Amino acid sequence: MRNDIVRIFDTTLRDGEQSPGYSMSTQEKIRLAVQIEKLGADVLEAGFPAASPDDYTAVKNISQKLHSIEVCGLARAIESDIVTTWDAIKDAQKPRIHTFIATSALHMQYKLKKTPNEILKMTEDAVKLAKSLCKRVDFSPEDAGRSDRNFLKEVVEVAISCGADVINIPDTVGYLQPEEFGDLIAYLIGHCKGGKNVIFSTHCHNDLGLGVANSLAGVQAGARQVECTVNGIGERAGNAALEEVVMAIKTRPLFYGLSTNINTKEIMRTSNLLRKITGQPVQPNKAIVGRNAFAHESGIHQHGMMAKRETYEIMKPEDIGISKSQIILGKHSGGAALRSRLSELGYEIKDEAFLDIFKKFKNLADKKKIIEDADLDALMLGEFQKNISEFTLVSVDAHCGTKQQASATVTLKTKVEGVVTQNALGTGPVDAAFKAIEKITKKLGKLTEFRMDAVTEGLDAQAVVSLTLTTNQEKRFFGRSGNTDVVVASVCAYLDAINKVTQREGIEKNSQYGRGV
Ligand code: KIV
Ligand code: ZN
Repeated sequence: MRNDIVRIFDTTLRDGEQSPGYSMSTQEKIRLAVQIEKLGADVLEAGFPAASPDDYTAVKNISQKLHSIEVCGLARAIESDIVTTWDAIKDAQKPRIHTFIATSALHMQYKLKKTPNEILKMTEDAVKLAKSLCKRVDFSPEDAGRSDRNFLKEVVEVAISCGADVINIPDTVGYLQPEEFGDLIAYLIGHCKGGKNVIFSTHCHNDLGLGVANSLAGVQAGARQVECTVNGIGERAGNAALEEVVMAIKTRPLFYGLSTNINTKEIMRTSNLLRKITGQPVQPNKAIVGRNAFAHESGIHQHGMMAKRETYEIMKPEDIGISKSQIILGKHSGGAALRSRLSELGYEIKDEAFLDIFKKFKNLADKKKIIEDADLDALMLGEFQKNISEFTLVSVDAHCGTKQQASATVTLKTKVEGVVTQNALGTGPVDAAFKAIEKITKKLGKLTEFRMDAVTEGLDAQAVVSLTLTTNQEKRFFGRSGNTDVVVASVCAYLDAINKVTQREGIEKNSQYGRGV
């Protein structure tokens, strides 16, 4: 094991996915997992298999799909969680169990209602069981940042003696300052029996905006694995952002004297894919992947950049995979130009699917002179859900105006009942179309968010509709679609969310839409 490599443990699909607005279907998780493998992360935490049947299925599917990356499942330090997790990951080429238990007085007393001795015993049992099933085991003392040091040391020593390969130190609530976190890592490595024989890892939350700084302080103190997420997503204010940790290490080689296995040219593609799948925007000034991260507005800066790039840029945009494409796509563009641009944007399309996309592109190019990247993103929105759709739009016909009540007729192709048409009145054409859809699909939840954005400028711009459907069980499903027609965009976004509900709840097995949700 080289000591100058920092292993990247990606937890986008576990800690990231459990935060509001980031839930993904199994299909979407697989798509992102494949990209994270391509990015070169060393470990992918695919989920928390004991948390729900959906999580279990997603982890199992990902384990069977990936090749080079280690696939990890999270388990509480209890027998049933560990056994379920092993079952979900055992088909992976390189399986890994990550088991955890809280060690701070607050968590032990109020959350777990356990004594320190009980925690020590649970740690011992959990790590021994995990190790008996799986070659590679990570152990985390949750809320380590606020745990008593002596007790933390005791727990870590038990985990090491029972066979843990990696000791991950979470600052669960993002409380520590970089010096404190670095000091904690150095203390544990230096004082724990067996500490030099395992890898120490960081898991820093961003509640005070210090997730990345704390992770890097941990690395300077000797940690050789960082748990982090793409775009820094995660519980509350998120986790340390993968791209920021990786680019800090790469940009300052003399300072850190370290490297990672990440292919940084895949960073932008990975960030974009997550954004597209979840529909959650990245703040424009976000380091590395925000849209302004390499934009230069002020005259002085632009002048400096033209004279010498390094005056205002410490990294090359190409190094994170931002290409400065000079090709303008429009109605005369051919398939090769479209395919190449889509690939740069992170869409790998099979030959069978390409013809259909090319047709859609030509249709759009007839309506819009210049096709921008945002147009292509909007065009590709529907492609993610295609294979899992319970309901697909055949047609929508809406009428509105000042002299009549809005009405809509919607025809859907359904997996169970074939082609079905319904019509309805509404307060506007979108409302009428949604009511017609609900007559076919039955009402699967409440529309709790609805947003419409023009993706480019001008009257011919495409509208992208993003909405959230919240089920009676308070589960939120995100839908998104784009079209030059706002009613069509809205209808497709609604169907996107509905299809996710039906897929998640397995309603098709009951062959009765609307049951059980
Ligand atoms: O933040 C945390 O403590 C966690 C653990 C499960 C590692 O996510
Ligand atoms: Zn966490």
